[in-house]
Amino acid sequence: MDEVFGEENFFSLITVRKTGGLGSAGLTGISDFVVWYAKSIDSVKYRNLLQHKVNMGTASQYSYALLSSGETISASKLTTAQSDAKIFQPTAVHTMFAGVQSCLYPTFQANGKTFRLPVNRQWSTTLPNMMRVGKAGRLYTGGSTPRFIRFLDDHPVTELNNLWTDVMGAQDVIYVVQTNPRIVQRCLLMTTDPGDLVLDPTCGSGTTAYVAEQWGRRWVTIDTSRVALALARARIMGARYPYYLLSDSLGGQKKEAELTRTATSGTPTYGRIRQGFVYERVPHITLKSIANNAEIDVIWEKFQETLEPLRARLNAAMGTHWEEWEVPRDADESWPQPAIDAHKQWWEQRIARQKEIDASIAAKADYEFLYDKPFDDKKIVRVAGPFTVESLSPHRTPGVGEDGELIDGIHDARGVHHDGRYEFGDTVLKHLEYAGVQQAHKEDKIDFTSLAPYPGEAICAEGRYTEGVDDEAEERRAGIFIGPEFGTVSRADLVEAAREAAEAAFDVLISCAFSYDAQASDLAKLGRVAILKARMNADLHMADDLKNTGKGNLFVVFGEPDFDVLDADDDELQVKINGVDVFHPQTGEVRSDGPEGIACWFIDTNYNEESFFVRHAYFLGANDPYKSLKTTLKAEINADAWETLHSDTSRPFPKPETGRIAVKVINHLGDEVMKVFRV
Ligand SMILES: C[S@@+](CC[C@H](N)C(=O)[O-])C[C@H]1O[C@@H](n2cnc3c(N)ncnc32)[C@H](O)[C@@H]1O
Repeated sequence: MDEVFGEENFFSLITVRKTGGLGSAGLTGISDFVVWYAKSIDSVKYRNLLQHKVNMGTASQYSYALLSSGETISASKLTTAQSDAKIFQPTAVHTMFAGVQSCLYPTFQANGKTFRLPVNRQWSTTLPNMMRVGKAGRLYTGGSTPRFIRFLDDHPVTELNNLWTDVMGAQDVIYVVQTNPRIVQRCLLMTTDPGDLVLDPTCGSGTTAYVAEQWGRRWVTIDTSRVALALARARIMGARYPYYLLSDSLGGQKKEAELTRTATSGTPTYGRIRQGFVYERVPHITLKSIANNAEIDVIWEKFQETLEPLRARLNAAMGTHWEEWEVPRDADESWPQPAIDAHKQWWEQRIARQKEIDASIAAKADYEFLYDKPFDDKKIVRVAGPFTVESLSPHRTPGVGEDGELIDGIHDARGVHHDGRYEFGDTVLKHLEYAGVQQAHKEDKIDFTSLAPYPGEAICAEGRYTEGVDDEAEERRAGIFIGPEFGTVSRADLVEAAREAAEAAFDVLISCAFSYDAQASDLAKLGRVAILKARMNADLHMADDLKNTGKGNLFVVFGEPDFDVLDADDDELQVKINGVDVFHPQTGEVRSDGPEGIACWFIDTNYNEESFFVRHAYFLGANDPYKSLKTTLKAEINADAWETLHSDTSRPFPKPETGRIAVKVINHLGDEVMKVFRV
């Protein structure tokens, strides 16, 4: 990674604890790693994620509890009845001597005790400030040295570090190498803001896209495997996501005002996700923020005016000299009535004073946002925003040399090397010969009786197979065209090859390629020559390592969508899908194969010839991907509306402005084909 990104761009190595180690021999491994490099370390984006101390196991230092009676006990002795107790950690109020004169007073008094400055130390704050911390009820004087009462709630969080022990746990795995979404979520929240773009070039079951979709990030994901893409598509579509309150919304402004105890902002809102969400926040109260809060003195003075006369009355009625810190919390029944009354009122005022001081401390404290805890509106159910799945790249980038000259001739793109040897092509032919060409139905499989090199421009081999059976069996000749090892077959490539096939009197052109561009995908025939576009399995990239026994579906033809465009009311159109055209080698005919083989089909009702936008989607197959969405939503569903999604006939739509519609069909294996129709 240092070589790829440069060692100066290393940002962090995160160790993630996983549930169990694979393989029992030797030392068990229970960790995985997230390696974080930046493209440029100076522009790395880092959002500090705060974790609750309780969850991070660092809350154990808070070993004292302050009861509502004012009594302090060990936190381990707390009972459930004492739920209003506040957990705290007593921390020193003196630091290393640094010569700050105002912090070098020799003693101070609190709760009737005198505390002496230890040798080589200075107090953490000035004498008036220390007195203020005492007035705020934040000095613990139960020990030999005074201590600051640091409540867990003063700063209940701690910064995330690079040891993640809390992200393991069970998950519903739909993909063998599925990543735990909590890990991806953390990475995403640490590195992006809402509206940012996230790329995962190894999609798998789509965890990154799923998490990005949930958190309002835009996403792009890529995979070489159609199985992975099909899983990811269903997963993203079938999920239900929380609706987070946007800062840039009326609801968001209201929530923000409520949280900050300020007036609602009157600025117009536009629902821009880039402005972020309204997040939960935690206070960051410190000894310093309390010591510097002069409002505490004002509140204290105000309450002294009522507290002091009440204490005087109590002492008079009891014949005592109780100082403030000596007044018992509970009155005894044997006390004279005036003492009971004064005691009751004194405590009411005493508690009211603490409340007001605490509120002032909270209001003056800094806040930190919990970027992983936005407020959500439970009344709104969100499903995935629109996205497309593109399996064909319409672009091909030829390699060029220093002077811009093409370094790879057209033949190189097809796997023919400079010295004229077929290398990639050779391998493909070798496999084609024994694997044959698979079609939708087993009986339509093309098995070659022979396959021999052919010295064409585009056509590189001639394959012979039998059409018909027994007496009527006739030998047919197929021209074989092989697409590039890395790249896409365009319509022009196919037309060139089909012309050559026609001139050389081939019966059919079989094109083998990893991908076809959008314009190529609706070309099924040129003159009398049928064009079969076989999709090569990505395993052929490592064909040399393939054992001859592993001849699965290496070459698969999935025909053209067969559909009718119908006139609907109001000058609108409807599409009825009949199935997929399939070439039957026994008869040489192309026949439509019913809609049963179709998992789902989409229409771009206004196709722009560049990108396919799914404007209508229908699901015919038994594996209805909306099923999980239906279950997830649990809401009342309009049965008629659902029914239109499970149909071979589309809803009506206006005529396309572009003059073209495109229909894309996906089978149960995830193969897809597209056909463009001029209206
Ligand atoms: C470990 S999985 C990713 C798992 C994913 N994070 C998830 O949660 O499901 C790796 C994926 O990368 C895909 N892959 C492998 N080589 C690839 C390549 N060169 N380009 C794109 N994807 C590739 C594989 O098909 C596989 O689905």
